[in-house]
Amino acid sequence: MERKKVTVLTFQAKKERGEPITMLTAYDYPTALALEAAGIDAILVGDSLGMVVLGYETTLPVTMDDMIRHAQAVRRGAKTPLLIGDMPFLSYQADVAEAVRNAGRFLKEAGMDAVKLEGGREVLATVRAITDAGIPVMGHIGLTPQSIHKLGGFRAQGKTAAAAQRLIEDAEALQDAGCFSIVLESVPEPVARLISQRLRIPTIGIGAGPGCDGQVLVTHDLLGLFDRFTPRFSKRYAELAAEMQRAFRAYIAEVQARAFPGPEHSTPMEEAEWAALLAALEPPSSDGRQRARTRAKARQ
Ligand code: KIV
Repeated sequence: MERKKVTVLTFQAKKERGEPITMLTAYDYPTALALEAAGIDAILVGDSLGMVVLGYETTLPVTMDDMIRHAQAVRRGAKTPLLIGDMPFLSYQADVAEAVRNAGRFLKEAGMDAVKLEGGREVLATVRAITDAGIPVMGHIGLTPQSIHKLGGFRAQGKTAAAAQRLIEDAEALQDAGCFSIVLESVPEPVARLISQRLRIPTIGIGAGPGCDGQVLVTHDLLGLFDRFTPRFSKRYAELAAEMQRAFRAYIAEVQARAFPGPEHSTPMEEAEWAALLAALEPPSSDGRQRARTRAKARQ
């Protein structure tokens, strides 16, 4: 049976029914196809793209154009899930009007359904302006990787009573500014649970425990495709980097041993056509004649 398109209303209804929301990242067409087939609720075209696909040390160098190109590929592969474009560093921090234009690009050029941006009280005016333009916004608080230098590294947030209280205030302010959902990243489990209970809108946790209304992981971490490091909170459901290396080694060995390509991978030619070709050719130089003889022998 064809699944119904997931919208922000589906998110809200799932929270109200107490049904966990599932979300993963994708950056390309084949992954989007696989997520669509698996029945995921939402796909985040995350700026984690910068680290797990483009090989940067952080997410900071990712541009709007990078994001749009990858979001377009994901859109082509996934029709049903809610598609969320992640606003990269400096696409929304400097100027509210620029933020609205960049958020709009995700919908106009890439067919996304919503955008996500990082930050709490400091982005409220931006969230209001983007939602006023008719674009659903997902918030993101806790560990916000675009502020890695300010945070002093990829570290859990909200671990003291005072820090947790700021997180709760930020979450409530983002909800009031119009966010339809909020990602809680690397936040103590009881704090994430409390925020989820206090908010009307759904929370999506990553490293924030089971008390959130939904969960998200970076797909490359889940698949074992990103080997530089695996966050403690992530879980590997496959070892695809190892599987890729196994396949690449097998290919290299078969090519070196002339075991690939076999006859089933090669294009045959009618004997008569081959004979006609040989007859029509100029006599090769002595060196070339030797090569042709070897080739003809190999075909017998
Ligand atoms: O960019 C990303 O993948 C994210 C998730 C970690 C939530 O923001």
